[in-house]
Amino acid sequence: MSDDSKIVSTSEAQIAVHWKEEELINPSEEFIAQANLTDKSIYERFSLANFPDYYTEFADLLTWYKKWDEVLDTSDAPCFKWFKGGKLNASYNCIDRHLAKNKNKTAIHFVAEPEDERVSHITYQELYTRVNEFAALLKNTAKLKRGDRVTIHMPMSAELPITMLACARIGVIHSVVFGGFSSSACADRVVDSNSRVLITMDSYYRAGKLLNHKEVDDEACALAEKGGQKVDTMLVWQRYPGKMSSPSPLVEGRDIIVNQELKKYYGALVEPEQMLAEEPLFLMYTSGTTGKPKGAQHGTGGYLAYVTAMSKYIQDIHPEDVYWCMADIGWITGHSFIVYGPLALCASSVIYEGVPTYPDAGRSWRIAQELDVNIFHTAPTAIRALRKVGPDEPQKYRYKFKHMTTVGEPIEPEVWRWYYNVVGRGEAAIVDTYWQTETGGFLCSTVPGIQPMKPGSAGPGVPGIHPIVFDETGEVLEPGCGKAGNICIQNPWPGMMQTVWGDRNRFVESYFGMYNKDRNSKKWQDWPYMTGDAAVVASDGYVRVLGRIDDVINVSGHRLGTKEIESAALTVPEVAEAAVVPVAHEIKGKEPELYVSLKPGIEATPELQKKVADAITFQIGKIAKCKNVWIVPDMPKTRSGKLMRRVLGAISNKGDVGNVMTLANPEIVEEIRKMVQG
Ligand code: PRX
Repeated sequence: MSDDSKIVSTSEAQIAVHWKEEELINPSEEFIAQANLTDKSIYERFSLANFPDYYTEFADLLTWYKKWDEVLDTSDAPCFKWFKGGKLNASYNCIDRHLAKNKNKTAIHFVAEPEDERVSHITYQELYTRVNEFAALLKNTAKLKRGDRVTIHMPMSAELPITMLACARIGVIHSVVFGGFSSSACADRVVDSNSRVLITMDSYYRAGKLLNHKEVDDEACALAEKGGQKVDTMLVWQRYPGKMSSPSPLVEGRDIIVNQELKKYYGALVEPEQMLAEEPLFLMYTSGTTGKPKGAQHGTGGYLAYVTAMSKYIQDIHPEDVYWCMADIGWITGHSFIVYGPLALCASSVIYEGVPTYPDAGRSWRIAQELDVNIFHTAPTAIRALRKVGPDEPQKYRYKFKHMTTVGEPIEPEVWRWYYNVVGRGEAAIVDTYWQTETGGFLCSTVPGIQPMKPGSAGPGVPGIHPIVFDETGEVLEPGCGKAGNICIQNPWPGMMQTVWGDRNRFVESYFGMYNKDRNSKKWQDWPYMTGDAAVVASDGYVRVLGRIDDVINVSGHRLGTKEIESAALTVPEVAEAAVVPVAHEIKGKEPELYVSLKPGIEATPELQKKVADAITFQIGKIAKCKNVWIVPDMPKTRSGKLMRRVLGAISNKGDVGNVMTLANPEIVEEIRKMVQG
């Protein structure tokens, strides 16, 4: 959930949502025959009546120094403690336990951006060596100890998971900040987590440019000090030392070059700390529309058990698979589904530097071909971008995916079908996984070996998760009623965040404020978790997420999901991307305004504008008629690829676009503003 103030009324959601029920598509028999989970009785075993004991099945996927005394401790609800009293270490589970049988297996394939650099393949044995050495450096040079927090601001590189796993080995709580974040975003997180150590890297490549990354963190240190937190040690990994024309100088007494310092620790072994299951493993900051970003705190035992189970049963990872999740490790997806989940299962996980569309639209498919990737995981935004720049590109490469994931936003059925037919060649099973930074792992998805896929719908709650949709009065909206409401989860689960770092009250109010009747209750039943998303549940239990509660537009008292309109626009073959924003209207309250970008080589014409407008009326009805259809050269996007509807909304409403310099393409904002405002 990204908005603290968001205990927003869902009354506007109380109208039938206009959408066509999509056809179900079955995964192939070949896929089902090899799937990790095909036993349908799991839903019975994981029923609410059996809660919370069924979650021991997930915990049993891990290796424990000591088994737990209690599955779920609710005495401090809603700060739940999972597998209380159990002891384990995340780095041991992701590395050491695989060595006896699989030490020569590749743990990480690292693909650098310059294509003349060969891919590096790090075996589990090498990962063990490097994590131990870096853990020794953290302990002895940086003087870090169990329970300390460390901020890691690094680009995609093999050294990033090595750094995280070394922290986990010695019980240090890592807080990874997305590499593309600015110095001030990094400083905020350093201050909030009281990190006296910042770990960075000198440089990285992105779309052909070698970027000086350390200079961002020099500035972050200065800003953090102003904010009251001094960074006394900056550990700098050197990735491209000789290549930068003007590298940032070292700050005497603060900066340490990791590559040199590590020589002191060659061959060192560090005994993993035996962590209590409920001790925090990491913080992951997520922004709210109001206030400072909040640090979602994830625990060791519950989180690791949950992501391991999700990787095994939903992503269907087997140890022999080559698995590529395209996300950045700086986001929760990368933590759970590049690092912790896949490595706990002894898979080979691909990490790449750069962007999927540089140097050309074929890069992703070349990587898949070269490494023989068979499980592929990405987000709708990347799928749309790849479809836009090279709709026929996948056909030119020899790769075979058996399974694909989509995550992060609703996926338009049109885009889903391209993913399925062209990228997956009509053979790969797709799971649309709905979840959040705060939830650690998946909330809703199909189990690919059990259920069919439905384009545009995530699927039912994953085994163990019991979703419920409320209206704003707390009335339950039954599956199949056709109305949208606030989707909540009735039960806690092990991957759920433990609290907001240092702000229990904010945790309680942000995620439980609306539907909890008794703040002192010690019963889990009294604390349904509010996701803050609007969703509709079909009669078959499949959840279709419409977007944030505040993404729903009220037009003349009728509620429309922005995604529905976007989805309609995307049915026009010339359209590559679509974004709807609400515009204030004197009589109707709000009306939607639509921005679209076109596929390459297609010209913007008034006819095309009309075609898009007609498609919306055709697909949804006159109620969804847009004030304008703007055909723009490109959409404003964050560096992680999220389409910035907020910026478009500000342009449409003649408001302040705010600071757009951190966007991937800030120049486009002014171009669109001129087009719209004249
Ligand atoms: O609105 C939902 C959307 O992304 C939000 C969570 O964003 P974040 O914490 O950045 O985590 C992203 C990666 C899990 C949710 O509140 N969302 C996430 N997955 C989906 C989705 N919307 C629709 N379908 C999904 N599969």
